Amino acid sequence: MKKINVAQIGVGYWGPNLLRNLWLSNSCDVKRVVEISRERQMFVEKNYPGIEITDDINHVLNDPTIDAVVVATPVKSHFGITLAVLEAGKHILVEKPLVTSVKEVNEIRKISEIKDLIVMVGHTFLYNSAVRYIKELLEKDSIGEIRYIYCQRLNLGRIRSDVDVIWNLAPHDISIIEYWLEGANPESISCAAMDYVQDGINDVAFLNIKYPGNIIANIHVSWLEPHKTRRITIVGTKKMIVYDDVSDNKVTIFDKGIDKLAVLGEAMDFDKSEKMQYTYPSGDIHVPIFKWTEPLKVQIEHFFSVIAGREKCLTDLDHAESVIKVLEGCRV
Ligand SMILES: NC(=O)c1ccc[n+]([C@@H]2O[C@H](COP(=O)([O-])OP(=O)(O)OC[C@H]3O[C@@H](n4cnc5c(N)ncnc54)[C@H](O)[C@@H]3O)[C@@H](O)[C@H]2O)c1
Repeated sequence: MKKINVAQIGVGYWGPNLLRNLWLSNSCDVKRVVEISRERQMFVEKNYPGIEITDDINHVLNDPTIDAVVVATPVKSHFGITLAVLEAGKHILVEKPLVTSVKEVNEIRKISEIKDLIVMVGHTFLYNSAVRYIKELLEKDSIGEIRYIYCQRLNLGRIRSDVDVIWNLAPHDISIIEYWLEGANPESISCAAMDYVQDGINDVAFLNIKYPGNIIANIHVSWLEPHKTRRITIVGTKKMIVYDDVSDNKVTIFDKGIDKLAVLGEAMDFDKSEKMQYTYPSGDIHVPIFKWTEPLKVQIEHFFSVIAGREKCLTDLDHAESVIKVLEGCRV
């Protein structure tokens, strides 16, 4: 199988994780890194001797031997870089969120179709074993119908100044919910957010999204919390699931719910007309064991399979667009 020649642009906080996986992959050769910070260039020089480093993107764009580019730069640079890479005839994997508006997604889509090139977005959690395991449970109808989902992605820091907490953290949860609900279009989106630390840059937000079938989702993201929390709770008609990304036991399934028991002779609650009694069945708590592979490894191997035509892209422009639609819906 022919190896794909790759270049990476941006090796700041997240980029090193991508570069390590690209470096270790048997599917590609890392030909070049583009980085404008001297300090980050030195990081690459020290850890990856042999990779050519430049601060000029043209050294990638004008190199016909480079097939694909991986981008881990700040969000506001993604649009310009993506257009330039596509114009140069190369496939691209861009970190999330792809761009800052649906309008920009559509411009990228137009060029990628004309040039017949792959645009994939690094919505990493769709390559995460726990998220995929839960998707299988939902497909098997293991928890009944989903009633609601709430997500907490909280920590003290890491504060950014190029995007707010919504555009930085919520893409993960929106992408996961979209995947679990198989692309269901939100019926309504509302958001309460506040900029306590930096003027005009929200550091805490509560997103409320209503999906078809009376499913409601709440996403709480914050840079202003005492504890690191990465938790999603799904409440179904038969069972409940807690996905805790910072725990060793990532997925816990609770056989809990509420059952209507019987119609009573007399109404117990004078405010209600029903005469129902309820029970709270509580069965086993199951902590499944599943095979764990680093999500970024799965993600980049998927990118190369998509380029080779072996797989359909999971986090393609349609997925990126649906995430950005929700983010845009949070702008007040
Ligand atoms: N998938 C995930 O879990 C995850 C986690 C963190 C960040 N991210 C995403 O990764 C991207 C980068 O985030 P980060 O936290 O690493 O940012 P960062 O600011 O720490 O790093 C960005 C790097 O890009 C370099 N850079 C900026 N413009 C450049 C250009 N034009 N050419 C070359 N280099 C350039 C900067 O010097 C810096 O080193 C963002 O889109 C972010 O949302 C994804």
